[in-house]
Amino acid sequence: MSCHKKAYITTPIYYVNDIAHIGHAYTTIIADTLAKYSRMIGLDTFFLTGTDEHGQKIEHSAQARGKSPQEYADEISASFKNLWDEFGISYDKFIRTTDEEHKIGVQKAFLKMQERGDVYKDVYKGNYCIACETFFPKSQLINEEFCPECGRATTLVEEESYFFRLSKYQEKLLAWYQEHPECILPKSKKNEVIRFVEGGLEDLSITRTSFDWGVKLPKELNDPKHVMYVWLDALMNYLTALGYGTDEKNIDFWPARVHLIGKDILRFHAIYWPAFLMSLDLPLPKHIAAHGWWTRNGEKMSKSKGNVVNPKEVADAYGLDNFRYFMLREVPFGGDGDFSQKALIDRINSDLGNDLGNLLNRLIGMSTKYFEGRIECARVSDFYQAELAEVDESIAKLEPYLFEMQLHRYLEELWRPLSVANKAIDRYQPWALMKEGKEEEVMALNGLIATILAKVAIMLSPIMPKTAPKIASALGFEINHASWSSLIVSKEPLSSFVIAPIPPLFPRIEEELLAHHEPDSATPQNKQESAAEKNSQSAPEPEDQIALIGIDQFFQSSLKVGTIVSAEEVPKSAKLLLLQVDIGEESPRQVVAGIKEWYSAASLIGTQVCVVANLKPAKLMGMKSEGMLLAAKDSGGLSLIRPEAPKTNGTKIG
Ligand code: ME8
Ligand code: MG
Repeated sequence: MSCHKKAYITTPIYYVNDIAHIGHAYTTIIADTLAKYSRMIGLDTFFLTGTDEHGQKIEHSAQARGKSPQEYADEISASFKNLWDEFGISYDKFIRTTDEEHKIGVQKAFLKMQERGDVYKDVYKGNYCIACETFFPKSQLINEEFCPECGRATTLVEEESYFFRLSKYQEKLLAWYQEHPECILPKSKKNEVIRFVEGGLEDLSITRTSFDWGVKLPKELNDPKHVMYVWLDALMNYLTALGYGTDEKNIDFWPARVHLIGKDILRFHAIYWPAFLMSLDLPLPKHIAAHGWWTRNGEKMSKSKGNVVNPKEVADAYGLDNFRYFMLREVPFGGDGDFSQKALIDRINSDLGNDLGNLLNRLIGMSTKYFEGRIECARVSDFYQAELAEVDESIAKLEPYLFEMQLHRYLEELWRPLSVANKAIDRYQPWALMKEGKEEEVMALNGLIATILAKVAIMLSPIMPKTAPKIASALGFEINHASWSSLIVSKEPLSSFVIAPIPPLFPRIEEELLAHHEPDSATPQNKQESAAEKNSQSAPEPEDQIALIGIDQFFQSSLKVGTIVSAEEVPKSAKLLLLQVDIGEESPRQVVAGIKEWYSAASLIGTQVCVVANLKPAKLMGMKSEGMLLAAKDSGGLSLIRPEAPKTNGTKIG
């Protein structure tokens, strides 16, 4: 960090085919932590995030929702930006690959690579995975057909394409990995990359002709049927965000201090990207840091599995700072981590509540009782030199951990000073010292604890940006570059102050607050109900990628308008209602619907609904269900889908 005074920190730009889940939040929160830390220590910091909006996958997702790609991208991009704003993510720029400046920058880069002799035209023959937006040689496919990354079927492509001479950079890349031991973090991941490159690099197809939703080739090439390969377009965002090819006012931030990514996209960042940069004659990033997966019960989180955790729900239920702490503390960077509410609650109650929150409470208690809240730190070193030394030793280890992405180590080490403080109270027994009339020693002990809490609050602030300032304010100071310089760098004592009692920062949490996210904790009855819920109400989650179907396939389902003629609660069930729905047949259909959380039985009688009428009957809690109601569910709850104006029972929908 020392020589380069600028810190350019990036997240991946996220695809707009889906809304954010905790995996995306994880990357963004790590990057935000690094950015906040960099600013605190006085580095000129530029933090970039944004959205990746081109490509076939997004074109398909838009189509499946009956929207234009731009309309669709606008919507999802805004949802990412809003979430980061709500989370207080301190990005300096939010880039979109549909931004005009970005497109111009990508085109300039394309021309430059061509001038360098790195681009040529040929025919691409091979397999393409749309979900991963990746070309694969036959040798890498599973059973010669399926994507080695995600297992989906690939598409055979044969089309005219421009190629980038990736093969030319094989040796240069290997030399770069060799000469820069920390260019890829964690270091274990670097070996995977080296092995891959040593296996031989084929030239990379960098344009497509089979679809439109992408950056056009530069006009100079006069070849309008080609659009850029989405990964060339996407990776370039790290340069165009600084104005590359347009207004280059921020270009001095290049090279990036760190590109934060998930391990799924390491190859693009550790092989293609440096090769592109070499071709453009630009310096390479200092670090590419790849973290692991968040999983649920051991399975990778994905929309199609229906096991995604919504970061906003977690933050709302448990507190944003607590969530940030948990994510960074729980999993060693680079490893996979299973998201469980139990683990989160343990961290809150134990690390945050017991070790940190209680220490502050004890300090407030002791200083109020013995000294009317007054705390003086001037004589701490007269009595507690050893403790101070131990604390400073831990604090000195922190920054390297942070910039090596060892955030769990950073936090683990940061908790050592707290343990020094808690142990000092038990060992020196201030209540006994008071009885012996050793007031000065007790004052100094309180001073020691305050000093420790102050240092911890400063170093914790990039991770817990709302909570740490509350601790600081109880201790009569503000967290900023000046207090970091004096308390952390110069190790000056904290000024005397009168402590301000504050309510407990981490009230104990006794129960899981997101019940429906813990399928494992469901009782057998709940399990049956959740199966019932699936069968009896619709609202399927949008898939990562929605298959297109013909109109004939659509009409294989028989959808009808009906009127609910009777509704009653199912005894002992928290979710199910037993309904009789008249859909214009001789007798009403019996439908068991998992909608009790949102509708009372009485409110439904006489209202109209839309019914899937040709589902195989199912038995739910022993009751026959002969249909399913259409409904839509989001974080705000569930709504039944109903005809806008009354329709005769049995009217066909479609
Ligand atoms: O790959 N656990 O976008 P993307 C942890 N547009 N992190 C996860 C995760 C999980 N289960 N799921 C996703 C793209 N992530 C490209 C990137 S960059 C020039 C272009 C995080 O929307 C992780 O950071 O698929 C991963 O790399 C990223 O989201 C992929 O997001
Ligand atoms: Mg992805």
